[in-house]
Amino acid sequence: MITRPTHGGNLTWASQVAGSSVIWDFSASINPWGPPASAIAAIQAAIPELIHYPDPNYGALRGAIALHHGLDPAWVFPGNGAAELLTWAAMDLAQESLTALITPAFADYGRACRGAGAALLPCGLDLHSEQRLEDLLPPSALLLNNPHNPTGKLWPVAELLPLIAESPCVVVDEAFMDFLPPGQQQSLIPYLAQFPQLVVLRSLTKFYSLPGLRLGYALAHPDRLAQWRQRRDPWAVNHLAAAVGAVVLEDQEFAQKTWQWLPPAREKLFQGLAGLPGLTPYPGAANFLLVETAVGSDLLQLDLLQTAQVLIRDCLSFPELGDRYFRVAVRTEAENQHLLTALTASLQRLTPNPHVP
Ligand SMILES: Cc1ncc(COP(=O)(O)O)c(C=O)c1O
Repeated sequence: MITRPTHGGNLTWASQVAGSSVIWDFSASINPWGPPASAIAAIQAAIPELIHYPDPNYGALRGAIALHHGLDPAWVFPGNGAAELLTWAAMDLAQESLTALITPAFADYGRACRGAGAALLPCGLDLHSEQRLEDLLPPSALLLNNPHNPTGKLWPVAELLPLIAESPCVVVDEAFMDFLPPGQQQSLIPYLAQFPQLVVLRSLTKFYSLPGLRLGYALAHPDRLAQWRQRRDPWAVNHLAAAVGAVVLEDQEFAQKTWQWLPPAREKLFQGLAGLPGLTPYPGAANFLLVETAVGSDLLQLDLLQTAQVLIRDCLSFPELGDRYFRVAVRTEAENQHLLTALTASLQRLTPNPHVP
């Protein structure tokens, strides 16, 4: 038996536990409507070019990302997923004496910071009460995640700006920000010119359902990005990913479809989860929900896999959450209903019956 994974989306492990290759995957927070047809068409059109190295300057890709965000291409650094970019961002954080990190936190922050020698100060988020960021975080370098994985919490720009103004280096991972329509996003991208100490990370993995392609980008001051370029290998983004990135950000039809689907689907799933005994979902702004559970999430995860081939994300890899929480992606109406039906049955099996002595 292979060991329980620490990331969502490990279908090899799940298939082995479920005894089935068909898995209803709620563990990785991926848009159920993708990948967009525009991405597949771009991949097909780019296949003949695989006999060449990618453009080491990624001119077309950087130009498209820059245009999308109203920036100069010199402020754009494409990467092999946001995970690769965390490696380079952590090297900048390592120049500072301490980096405050809100916990629970995405596990890859620890990997990147340990590798770079950046000292992390965990700042525990109180899940049961509202906290002001200025009370939670000291004046230091910051590694932030907005909206926050795994809680789905969204911090308003107005709350972030005073902290950024006082910090020597701020990395903000906005991997899930694109799930909010432009009018509701709390992105720091418009403030890059004002704060040279600011780095914003974006990912195409979640919104465009392309975790296997590997594409993300950093937006930051050109001097910082010039230093990053000297450290990394010359063709970190493959040709197919670069071709997709050059077109997909302008796919308005796909974006609109996602923005229309998510709020009602998330609300319906939230209500369904809140109606189940022993479960307390947290309101979230992204395409996933964190759920507190009276039954151990490890037991629940195994039961769901073995009886309904449903994979939820246990939170054992977030030490602050342990086995009292799990996270689920918001998916299509039919899939969400399958999850709720499976959860109902599993909870009945796993909850001791108070009437039986
Ligand atoms: C908050 C957060 N940032 C970044 C990533 C990694 O994104 P990518 O696939 O672009 O490396 C993840 C993946 O789970 C994530 O949850």
